[in-house]
Amino acid sequence: MNEKDQGFATKAIHVGQEADPATGAVTVPIYATSTYVQEEIGKHKGYEYARVSNPTRDRLETNLAALEGGTAAKVFASGMAAINAIVTMLKAGDHVVAGHNLYGGTPRLFNQVFANFGLMFSYVDTSDAANVERALQKNTRMVYLETPTNPLMELCDIRAISELAHRHGVAVVVDNTFMSPYFQRPIELGADMVVHSTTKFLNGHSDGLGGVVICTNPEQAEKLAFLQKAAGAILSPFECWLILRGVKTLAVRMLQHDCNGRQVAEYLSKHKKVRKVFYPGLPDHPQHELAKRQMSGFGAMIAFETGSLENANKMLRRVRVCSLGESLGGVETLISHPATMTHAAVGEEGRRRIGITDGMVRISVGIENVEDILRDLDQALAAI
Ligand SMILES: Cc1ncc(COP(=O)(O)O)c(C=O)c1O
Repeated sequence: MNEKDQGFATKAIHVGQEADPATGAVTVPIYATSTYVQEEIGKHKGYEYARVSNPTRDRLETNLAALEGGTAAKVFASGMAAINAIVTMLKAGDHVVAGHNLYGGTPRLFNQVFANFGLMFSYVDTSDAANVERALQKNTRMVYLETPTNPLMELCDIRAISELAHRHGVAVVVDNTFMSPYFQRPIELGADMVVHSTTKFLNGHSDGLGGVVICTNPEQAEKLAFLQKAAGAILSPFECWLILRGVKTLAVRMLQHDCNGRQVAEYLSKHKKVRKVFYPGLPDHPQHELAKRQMSGFGAMIAFETGSLENANKMLRRVRVCSLGESLGGVETLISHPATMTHAAVGEEGRRRIGITDGMVRISVGIENVEDILRDLDQALAAI
C-alpha cells in the first residue's frame, strides 16, 4: 500500500520503522557509533561521521516527516535546540513576529541570545490574525506561532495567518508540541515549518529530551542538515530510538489523553474553588469553534485559576497521583505552576501583561484511570 494512503497509526508504527535489513530485527537498531569504516577514499555506505548522519536518526526523521505531512524532518538535542536551529536560518537585520504567549524559554532565547546578534522580534497577540499583519515590517522573514499557547490555551488561526504571511512573502513556523500531529497538522493548514519539543507527547514517556523541525521544501531541509553538521546539536541515537518507540503508541495515547483531558476540564469548570478554566474543548472557550475546525481533538493541556499563589501552593503540595513538576505530554499526569516554572524567565511584568497569574496552575492530563486523577484533584483542591 502507498504510504500516503495509510492511516496515522499505521504510519506511526511503520514509516521509517521497517525491519532491519541486516538481521530482520522488527525494531530499529540503535546505531551507537561515532564513525563508519570506509572501503577506500570517498567510498562508503552513505555514512561518514555521526554528527552528520546516523541510521537511527534517519529513521526517526523519516517517521516524523510523514506524521506531520512534511517533506523532511531534522532532529535536535532538545526542543530549544530545534528552535535555535530555525532562528539561525535567519540573518542579522531580519525581523520575526512572534506570539506574545509562547513557552517562556522561546522568548528567552530570542531576547537574550539572538537579539545580541542583530535579529529583531515583535510580540503580538496572535489569537487575532490582524495583529500579525499589523506587526509585519519590510524585513520580517518569519511569523513564529504556538497554538494552543502555553499555558493560556489561546489559539491562533494557522490558515488565516499563513495566508496573510504568504501574501507578504513571510514564512510561518508553528510549535505544535501541545497538540502533536495526531490532533493538529499545521502544514496542511499552510505552515512552512513545524517544530516540536519531542520531549513531550511524541516521546510520551518523560524519559528523554529532543526536538524536531519538519520542513516543506528541500532548501529548508538542506539548511537544517547543514546546521546539524555545523553547529552539532544533534539528537543521540538512543534518544532517537526512544522517540521511535514512543510514536508507535502516539495515536492511542493521544486518544486517551484527550478523553481524560475533557473529563478533567469539565470537572474543574464545575468546581467552586476554581475561578476559571482554560481549555479549548469547553464550549465557553472564546475560540471553541476554531478549535473544532483546526484540531481533531482538544488534548490534555488545561490551565486553571486558583486565586492566589497561596492557594496554588496549598493544592500543589497535596497532589499524589498528579506529580508536581515541569514538562508535559508524558503518560503520567504532571501538574505545574507556570509563574515560577515555565514562565519564570518572562518576569513578573511580562506575565502580568499576558495574563499569567500567581494563582494559575497547569495540568498535563496523563492516561491513568481518570477517576483516580479526579479523586486526587478533589482532595488537593479541598486544601484551598
Ligand atoms: C511548547 C514548547 N515548546 C518548546 C519547548 C522546549 O523544549 P525542550 O524542553 O525539549 O527544550 C517546550 C518545553 O517545555 C514547550 O513546552
